[in-house]
Amino acid sequence: MKADDIKKVLIIGSGTMGRHIGLQHALYGYEVVFYDIDESVLEVAVTHVGKMASRLLKTGYINEEMYANVSRLITTTTDPQEASRGVQLVSESVPESIALKQKVWSEFDKYLPADAILTTNTSTLVASMFAEASGRPERFLAWHFHLPVLTANVVDVMPHPGTDPAVTEVILEHSRRIDQIPIDIRIEWPNYVYNEMLTSLQSAALRLAVNNVATPEDIDRAWMAIMGTNIGPFGIMDSVGVDTTYHITAQDYELHPDTPYLKEIVQFLKEKVDANELGRKTGKGFYSYPNPAYEQPDFVKRVLPKYKK
Ligand SMILES: NC(=O)c1ccc[n+]([C@@H]2O[C@H](COP(=O)([O-])OP(=O)(O)OC[C@H]3O[C@@H](n4cnc5c(N)ncnc54)[C@H](O)[C@@H]3O)[C@@H](O)[C@H]2O)c1
Repeated sequence: MKADDIKKVLIIGSGTMGRHIGLQHALYGYEVVFYDIDESVLEVAVTHVGKMASRLLKTGYINEEMYANVSRLITTTTDPQEASRGVQLVSESVPESIALKQKVWSEFDKYLPADAILTTNTSTLVASMFAEASGRPERFLAWHFHLPVLTANVVDVMPHPGTDPAVTEVILEHSRRIDQIPIDIRIEWPNYVYNEMLTSLQSAALRLAVNNVATPEDIDRAWMAIMGTNIGPFGIMDSVGVDTTYHITAQDYELHPDTPYLKEIVQFLKEKVDANELGRKTGKGFYSYPNPAYEQPDFVKRVLPKYKK
């Protein structure tokens, strides 16, 4: 199979990630079938995808033709056999559980065309954990997106040792065709590339905060001013969900209880979670929403070339 042969894409799991990945494909002219276990989830998914597309049109990220593709190219089903019909590429985004992903892949093995390329969007696990369950480990690899997919346009392409290199090449090329920058990952590395760096940044920021070295606002300010970004590590935690950061950190503490300051960091995050300060989704986290302080023009006084002639 070549990248040219990909025309129809199956999205297994139509939640947060599945919707973005499906939308990206429809915008770029691919047929998309959304699969989920529940009809009502699919209805919500289609409405949400439509709203995302309208916003992208309004803000000038897509044109009318791309927008029209969304209603023209997307279908939905809860039937795995119907979902599998005629697809060349599969992207799975079911919840992060080894047992669940194995179950889903072995179920779809009964129906998927023999030459389809199979990808998982797992964030913390690796493809070799479910490759055998898919029944075609040589056509299986991790293909991991970032939110929001259209603008955070980096995708990790991470084969497992048994992936056919020709299949990886097709996914690298296909990624470029949907305007994603593929990161060609050479070994299985659970946290991929960006996430690994982000985790380190967040750990450092949390270490500074629990030791009261500086406030979360000042820690963000330091990062934002020098790196020229619109958001700092605590703003990112609020966007992702403070609960998500807490769960990941608590898991890390169980595995590595001797890591300096990790116990204090877990306690610090737990207090926010217990107070329902989960970030953007609850209206309060390290910042208050909407219109968090870090989005205000005076949060970081940027140096501009104001004397430029
Ligand atoms: N949220 C993120 O920022 C992010 C980023 C990259 C990767 N991921 C990964 O993507 C995957 C999905 O995450 P999400 O945030 O979209 O989760 P989500 O909970 O928003 O969506 C999961 C979807 O899977 C469906 N589902 C559950 N069981 C199923 C089954 N047996 N068959 C088909 N569908 C089923 C659910 O109904 C739901 O719609 C996870 O592996 C996660 O680690 C998440």
